[in-house]
Parts: sequence; structure tokens; C-alpha cells
Amino acid sequence: MPKSLNDQQCEPSPKPFVYSEIVKEHFLNPRNFLMGDESKYQRDAEGTVGNPVCGDQMTMYLQIEDDKIRDVRWKTYGCASAIASTSALSELIKGKTLDEALKIGPKEITEFLGGLPEHKFHCSVLGHEALAEAINNYRSKLQK
Ligand code: FES
Repeated sequence: MPKSLNDQQCEPSPKPFVYSEIVKEHFLNPRNFLMGDESKYQRDAEGTVGNPVCGDQMTMYLQIEDDKIRDVRWKTYGCASAIASTSALSELIKGKTLDEALKIGPKEITEFLGGLPEHKFHCSVLGHEALAEAINNYRSKLQK
């Protein structure tokens, strides 16, 4: 029976891959991770996205002032690479305008982390997409 894409992605890699020290550090000590009850975090915007391939999910919460990201929190049902990537992203976008933050994509995130194994690159997309969704929701709300 052919293996599903999900089964293929969960198989152990024949080659050992090494995470950078920066990836490990952000995974073990995720920045701006929202602990506890998310309803208690005051925010101006939020966005939730899912990765249909692996089923992981990410929500990003933003505090926005004068078109800049004043603060950020996030929650995920995601893998170690998604956690490290979103932790890094959350640090990189603080104080940025919304347009500047949107320009920080998976390429910039993985560069900041010192790389990710090739088959984990897609994990860096999840936080970026949740950020884009939150900003999109925020801008839609402003237009109403
Ligand atoms: S395996 Fe799903 S985001 Fe990493």
C-alpha cells in the first residue's frame, strides 16, 4: 500500500540531521509563547492557520499601535521546527511596521536560525502565515 504524504514525513530520516544551536535554543526557550488562557491577552488582531500536510496549527496574537507591532504572542500545535521558527519570528517582528513584518518570511526566519533541515523548511511557513492572517484580519476590521 502506498504511504501517505504524512507517513512519509514522519519516517525517520536515513541521514542524521543537525539542528543549529539557535534552533535548539528557541525550541527549548520559546520567546513570546502564550502560556495559559489566551482570552486574558489583550490583542488588536489574531490569525490562525493550519498546515494541511502535517495537521499542525498556529495562532498569532498582535498588539498594534501606530501601525507597528508593539507586542506579540503565539500558540501552536506544532513541531519543534515550527516552535523555533515562530519564536524567532516573534522576536524579529517586534517594533516593526505591519508591512515590514510581512516581509520577514520563511527565508529570513531560517537564515536567522542558522538553517533548518530541508524537509523542515515548510515548518517556518506556519508562523509567517499566521502573522499574515492576523494582519489581514486587522486591516479588514479597520475598513469596517
Ligand atoms: S511538521 Fe508541521 S509544522 Fe513542522
